[in-house]
Amino acid sequence: MIKKISIIGAGGVGSNLAFNILNNLSIEQLVLLDINHDQAKAVACDLEDTRGILDFSTQIKGVKNYSKIKDSDIVVFSAGIPRKEGMSRLDLLRINADIAKGAAAQIKKYSPKSIVIAITNPLDIITYLILKETKFSPKKVFGMGSSLDTSRLLNILSKETGKSASSCQAFVFGPHSKDMIVNSTARKQKIRKGTRETVKYRGAKIVKLFKNKSAVFGPSVACCKLIEAISHNKSQIIPVSVLLNGEYGIKNICLGARCLIDRSGIAKVIEEDLTVAQKRKLKKISFSLKETLKKI
Ligand code: APR
Repeated sequence: MIKKISIIGAGGVGSNLAFNILNNLSIEQLVLLDINHDQAKAVACDLEDTRGILDFSTQIKGVKNYSKIKDSDIVVFSAGIPRKEGMSRLDLLRINADIAKGAAAQIKKYSPKSIVIAITNPLDIITYLILKETKFSPKKVFGMGSSLDTSRLLNILSKETGKSASSCQAFVFGPHSKDMIVNSTARKQKIRKGTRETVKYRGAKIVKLFKNKSAVFGPSVACCKLIEAISHNKSQIIPVSVLLNGEYGIKNICLGARCLIDRSGIAKVIEEDLTVAQKRKLKKISFSLKETLKKI
């Protein structure tokens, strides 16, 4: 039974996720933690103001101190800073990596039995850093990325074919970046190159349109569905960024893979039948992720 969920980073994604949680799960406590205390408190107040209409019993807190996340069943990491002018991607990565490592140490201290879900980008790196810093079981630390990419893919396929999204059989795995791998699970369903490209650049398109922020609804709904799978012990197959341990000949790096999600976290990593080219691509990506990790 999930009683307490804490969200680190009460920005666009964190606050929208909190609203999704309130609408979909009955939990005792929902904690929003942000370095900007006023931001966390404002989001908590705004969310609380829906109680008179939605009639939930969840206690909501906007906090700054990590002691308040004590004994959370699930902790979501959605904190970070956006890239500023003159800042390289590596500079940004170093800053967000430090924020993630700092948060992970606190999660380990106050919620040692929690399941941790990372959302902050670059997702596969951040997930890996949180896993290493907490030293939690790899079954309990994973990243939300490929399930959002899959939702984006199913949306496009649904619009192309006129079928419902749930009847389109395809998914995305590998890195949560433009190098993601788009896979069809239906023999007759070929995925066009144009469709693959649209999925790969969907997140970037949203950033370009917003100019100063990234997607909110997609990431938060995808994360809420992961939390529901855990909370309701669904044994549902969802692609998440997970520590690979020999799958595809890759070890010690986090990448998106379809996993069986239940109350324990990741109950099983599903190893796909890959083409030689796909295997080679994954190996190349894991090498480049390892090189990036050396720089931070
Ligand atoms: N501790 C706690 N919170 C922090 C810290 C920190 N050290 N540093 C920054 N934050 C908070 C910010 O104050 C902000 O409220 O993290 C929040 C991030 O929110 P936004 O800037 O609105 O970013 P958001 O759109 O929510 O995206 C968060 O999710 O999808 C990914 O790419 C996205 O990496 C990004 C992350």
